[in-house]
Amino acid sequence: SGGGSGGGSDIRFTAVQPNKDDKLTIPDGYQSSVVVRWGDPVLPGAPEFDFDNQSADAQNKQFGYNCDYVTVFPMGRDRALMWVNHEYTDESLMFRGYTGGATATEEQIRIGLAAHGGSVVEIERAGRTGEWKLVTKGRRRYNRRITAQTKMKFTGPAAGSDLLKTAADPRGTTPVGMLNNCSGGTTPWGTVLTTEENFNQYFVNADKVPEAQKPYITRYSITTGTPSSSRRFDRVEERFDLAKHPNEVNRFGWIVEIDPFDPDSTPIKHTALGRFAHEAATTTLARDGRLVVYMGDDGRFEYIYKFVSKDRYIPGFDRHNRGLLDEGTLYVAKFTGDSPAAELDGTGKLPSDGQFDGYGEWKPLVSGDRSFVAGMTAQEVLVYTRSAADKVEGGATKMDRPEDIERNPVTGGVYVALTNNTNRTAAQVDEANPRPSNKHGHVLEIVERRDDAGETTFAWSLPLVCGDPNDASTYFAGFDKTKVSPISCPDNVTFDKDGNLWISTDGNALGTNDGLFVMPVRGRERGYVRQFLTVPVGAETCGPLVSDDQRSVFVAVQHPGETDGASPDAPSSRWPDGEGSQPRPSVAVVWHAGGKKVGG
Ligand code: FEO
Ligand code: CA
Ligand code: CA
Ligand code: CA
Repeated sequence: SGGGSGGGSDIRFTAVQPNKDDKLTIPDGYQSSVVVRWGDPVLPGAPEFDFDNQSADAQNKQFGYNCDYVTVFPMGRDRALMWVNHEYTDESLMFRGYTGGATATEEQIRIGLAAHGGSVVEIERAGRTGEWKLVTKGRRRYNRRITAQTKMKFTGPAAGSDLLKTAADPRGTTPVGMLNNCSGGTTPWGTVLTTEENFNQYFVNADKVPEAQKPYITRYSITTGTPSSSRRFDRVEERFDLAKHPNEVNRFGWIVEIDPFDPDSTPIKHTALGRFAHEAATTTLARDGRLVVYMGDDGRFEYIYKFVSKDRYIPGFDRHNRGLLDEGTLYVAKFTGDSPAAELDGTGKLPSDGQFDGYGEWKPLVSGDRSFVAGMTAQEVLVYTRSAADKVEGGATKMDRPEDIERNPVTGGVYVALTNNTNRTAAQVDEANPRPSNKHGHVLEIVERRDDAGETTFAWSLPLVCGDPNDASTYFAGFDKTKVSPISCPDNVTFDKDGNLWISTDGNALGTNDGLFVMPVRGRERGYVRQFLTVPVGAETCGPLVSDDQRSVFVAVQHPGETDGASPDAPSSRWPDGEGSQPRPSVAVVWHAGGKKVGG
């Protein structure tokens, strides 16, 4: 039956209990396996993973570290291409005795560069269930590694801008590598959009850039000096030293498009989509066929953005469609509450109209070569988007760390994970960010005017205010709080085909492991949050992805064992390989043993 069509939902599994176990815990009746691990050979000639003898040459041909966004492109029923982001490296868990970038060997630094980026890998169905495995034999023509050293190109209005020119690229059109690719999305023409998030941490000497650039450096929190926590990529590639190459940092922080079906294609950094700590890149079509991309900027007090293409998507007209992301309008969101400010007392108590809700507008920042921000050129708006959003007339709304964004395929509602913001003070609460010192985060729903993603006004509400349900400041869409799972720090979100919202968490502030949750968003069970799985010690839950046939849930288990003081000589996790092994970030798949719809 169609999910929720009778006012209920098809979600029936028994919720997993919060725990601190060093394993992937799944509901009764389900099975799981690891699809691909950090270090697994994926390119021809790649050696088997050998923790104590890792090399950059091996890492360039092996699956990278810290898997984040996961998406799957079917190639028939039993074979598919899987794309996975490799967000960042944790050298203190990758190398014995690691004491920082200043003392690392150059080979270790090169391993770090190679372990970033992303992977395209071929996977195949195992048996008749929802299990999938890495293809390890025969020709794998699509397998590919993208790293911090892969040649790329800029397109869109800021390509070739003076702000993007460096000694190595005097035309400002050919950046090298991508960094901190967090969440992402896909395009209707079958490519990946992967998002460069916290690129600020890879550079050194940001305090030594020309004076005119310093306000922008500060606005993006780029690393000053050469702190011991820095990876010191500059020791093997001078471009990461901003004292010598101040514009290099402007070449990161973009949405990158990668064609998984063309292993020889050059990844594209799309300047029309702006530059910030990009998280989501969710595409949908406006009613008139224009392409819309929803994007978050994951920082405390940062903004939510969307891009609307100038031209329309034309099914099958590939050459035309692939230009859509190069010309359009970039907007930033302003949220206005409909309840009196006096009713937002910071306790989380709902206002008298019973909802944190209101209306909002998308404010244009730049459209092609036209800037809507006083004192900034169009290219400046695209390269220094945060500063542009700060200055936009009438103001934009500073949010509690906008992470992933997804559009519900059934209702059309746009859901945003706001993971937390412990820096918000009582004086800074607003109806869209109603809790001071917000430890547990919330989920925001945007309903565009006429349900048209191309519109510039919308209604919004908070269906979920996270935390321990016994905490009076939580809200589960009015559902009975004695029945729901505790949930903290929503990060990545996805929908299944029935329109149920799947929420993964990062940084669970309730003291137990992170996990994956399901919440129906309509019908009698709207707000009924149930925990579907927990990840091992120290990990966050990324991905997630429910397959189109709803037989498989893919999750990226990122940074298992990343806890204070952990090291290869004192690991806090042994997942997934068990006793005597080191933790390895991996993509896992979960399916119902009897072949039922996942969650059903
Ligand atoms: Fe990489 Fe905002 O999580
Ligand atoms: Ca209200
Ligand atoms: Ca994330
Ligand atoms: Ca995260």
